[in-house]
Amino acid sequence: MKVLGIESSCDETGVAIFDTEAGLLGEALYSQIDLHAVYGGVVPELASRDHIRLLPALVRQTLKDAGMTVADLDAIAYTAGPGLAGALLVGASVAEAMAFAAGIPALAVHHLEGHLLSPLLADDAPDFPFIALLVSGGHTQLMQVSGVGEYELLGETLDDAAGEAFDKTAKLLGLGYPGGPRLAALAASGRPGKYRLPRPMLHSGDLDFSFSGLKTAVLTMVSGTNGAAVCAADLAADFQQAVVDVLVAKALAALRQRHLRSLVVAGGVGANRALRDALDVALARQGGRVYYPAPALCTDNGVMIAFAGAQRLVRGERSPAPATIRIRPRWPLAELTRPVAAQ
Ligand code: KG4
Ligand code: ZN
Repeated sequence: MKVLGIESSCDETGVAIFDTEAGLLGEALYSQIDLHAVYGGVVPELASRDHIRLLPALVRQTLKDAGMTVADLDAIAYTAGPGLAGALLVGASVAEAMAFAAGIPALAVHHLEGHLLSPLLADDAPDFPFIALLVSGGHTQLMQVSGVGEYELLGETLDDAAGEAFDKTAKLLGLGYPGGPRLAALAASGRPGKYRLPRPMLHSGDLDFSFSGLKTAVLTMVSGTNGAAVCAADLAADFQQAVVDVLVAKALAALRQRHLRSLVVAGGVGANRALRDALDVALARQGGRVYYPAPALCTDNGVMIAFAGAQRLVRGERSPAPATIRIRPRWPLAELTRPVAAQ
């Protein structure tokens, strides 16, 4: 079965074709980073307009690269949420219209399910069940994944997501957008330990997170009387270490609690080198293993949406009503067992 996937939930326009027999047949990705950089963050209306500008061309290009036409497709999957409403509407409209015209199903895919399942695209994929640490710009969650569509939330952030904390802290340090990778690059030239930042909720006894206090601690540091003397690289290293310490400790606790040994890390922050190194060491020490999506699949892309859509298609999922544009800007992953139209 050949599924075209469309991702347009935020600032990346992604298109891909995944074949359940032959794997990935084609993909195209356009990042809007330059468009938003001057504003210091994503401007939703500009994001929507840019998705409209590029999506049709990217779809045509992907089909051409795969040597296919729309008539060769079995379904079209699109990110229905969570994400920016206007941006989601672009992908949903294009996907639903194309699917209706071609007389094939359109599948409304959950963005985080895309991230969550993307490590399964690797040759050396983990077996179910595993613990997933989802760390993106909008989410920080620990889940037990027992199969496609079988997700149990174990803990999540009570305020800022890990990526959001990276982005906001980067802004405080004057690093601009996109903050996460820039802060990580600066941290690589600094030494952690000098500023004694807190490790929020490290000993809370549950699997929840909180990162907004950490960002405030950095703000206090840079705006305090000694602000001018603060070494930005050391402070960035300290901030990154604090986030990594908490993520690693809670991920290990989740594995212990569920008697599991495989950890999957998904979402943009999963690209962070310090986090990967710390998780690799910690898991190896207790005989477990960490699985990461390929680096290109860590951040938003169309491949993960085509893949998640294909998994749902082979399990018999079909659009409840043709040409019905379904988006859910806020959509808890735990609700996924129910079809989107029924929610
Ligand atoms: O999953 P993603 O591409 O988009 C969603 O939020 O769905 O994640 C983007 C987030 C941003 O907050 C970005 O700053 C963060 O991932 N990020 C990083 C790194 N690369 C991306 N954070 C820390 N270190 C990185 N290397
Ligand atoms: Zn994402």
